Amino acid sequence: MRVKVLKGKISNFKCDAAVVCHFEGGKKLSGAASRVDQASGGLIREVLESGDFEGKKGQIAVVYTRGAIPARRILLLGLGKKGEFDLEKLRRAFSKAAQRARDLNLKGFATSVDIGDVGQPPGRLAEALVEGVILGLYHFLPFKTAEKEGRGKMGELVIVEEREKAFGEVKEAAKRGQIVSGAVYFARDLVSTPSNEMTPTILARKAKEAVRNKKVRLNVLDVKGIKKAGMNALLGVARGSHEPAKFMILRYVGAPKKEKPVVIVGKGITFDSGGISLKPAEKMDEMKADMSGGAVVLGVFKAVSELQLPVNLVGLIPATENLPGGGAYKPGDVLRSLSGKTIEIISTDAEGRLLLADALTYAGRFNPAAIVDIATLTGACVIALGEDVIGMLGTDEKLKGRIRAAAEETGEKLWELPLWEDYAELIKSDVADFKNTGGRAGGAITAAVFLSKFVGKYPWVHLDIAGPAWRKAGKPHIPKGASGIGVRLLVQFLVNRTKGN
Ligand code: BES
Ligand code: MN
Ligand code: ZN
Repeated sequence: MRVKVLKGKISNFKCDAAVVCHFEGGKKLSGAASRVDQASGGLIREVLESGDFEGKKGQIAVVYTRGAIPARRILLLGLGKKGEFDLEKLRRAFSKAAQRARDLNLKGFATSVDIGDVGQPPGRLAEALVEGVILGLYHFLPFKTAEKEGRGKMGELVIVEEREKAFGEVKEAAKRGQIVSGAVYFARDLVSTPSNEMTPTILARKAKEAVRNKKVRLNVLDVKGIKKAGMNALLGVARGSHEPAKFMILRYVGAPKKEKPVVIVGKGITFDSGGISLKPAEKMDEMKADMSGGAVVLGVFKAVSELQLPVNLVGLIPATENLPGGGAYKPGDVLRSLSGKTIEIISTDAEGRLLLADALTYAGRFNPAAIVDIATLTGACVIALGEDVIGMLGTDEKLKGRIRAAAEETGEKLWELPLWEDYAELIKSDVADFKNTGGRAGGAITAAVFLSKFVGKYPWVHLDIAGPAWRKAGKPHIPKGASGIGVRLLVQFLVNRTKGN
């Protein structure tokens, strides 16, 4: 998608379509809409008076201008009630506008962030608008033979800005929106790709691609390296598959070296069959998405390095398949993790926490300011919070507050679950230090309590994205399938750190 920010008036701008916004029930037109209305001799008023369009969120009226203004069409876009406006509404509305433009076979459209006074600076509006347009147009077609052509014509977004003062801000924000959305696309593509084409080896290759020509160092441990490091919990999971495991270490230094880094850890199970504790066949195909956390980490590195954020960041991705091959680990086995603590395997399907345990211990090597892991960890989290919501658990109130604040800004829904020590009773083992499941009750929590045993003393937050990583039904800005949820959240969290909060 080409995104341009140009100086000028949308009412004078020649384009296939000018998208202007209206709030539901508003008597007055605001901002760009009012000027387009004036310049066109009242075309927008006419639509409102007809009663065809009220301005409900995501509602769209297509008006042909017949030369009244240089734009061939006006796409009148509803933003819902003004009192309920937030950036997420803008994102979703512009996703719908972009989808309509695509359906109309338009090559692009022009718009303005001057939507009236909504208490948001032009930059934030521009960023959300660009995100909405790009994120809403995502589709995954590499394996579709026929549909490659014809689709994806909507290739240009022009933001026209007439206010001298706002121009620079809008231009920069649009660029940010484009970078971050590109990172979300990158993550979505990795997740959408079937596991036969997204093995740990290929994921490591994609990691290289994500950071090519950037200020990121990538180190990939192969099975020998993982053994040497002592990550036996990861190796245990990997034993059931012929595909060799990988452990990716990414490092980005954007701040002075002495500044402690943030470490982000992503679960990289490229396919989760459950192993010997085999999953039921139904929907097992969706387990190609079990590397969503790892994909998020790569997306975040892509964005952070392109934005050149002044932060220090480490990324860790333990990657393997979880299969029931002849060498597979088995219920009853005991694994000795990198931390030295031993784990009795009750279910080989509780594999994510095993690789994360080793990665979280490994994270301690970087003496981090904070550790955030992100993982499609438990079905129990989906049962607790539904398919839309990220489960958050962690040891540090401040860090949790910052993650929560970032989620509110990006519109990614997140809810905290308690990390009470009482739950540790449920993962006590008779033969080892811990067992890898605590039963069905409170499954998202016992999984997090398990992880907490491997974190050390660092501020830590765990994000369970088992629900929203893969969407059964689409939303305007998240077409069905891979969502890339977590990329914008973590980028925003890191951006906020650079502002000292
Ligand atoms: N990858 C799954 C969790 C999952 C389930 C992600 C549904 C996305 C959608 C994870 O490895 C798993 O299998 N967890 C088990 C744990 C149980 C055996 C304690 C689960 O949630 O059933
Ligand atoms: Mn599993
Ligand atoms: Zn899994």
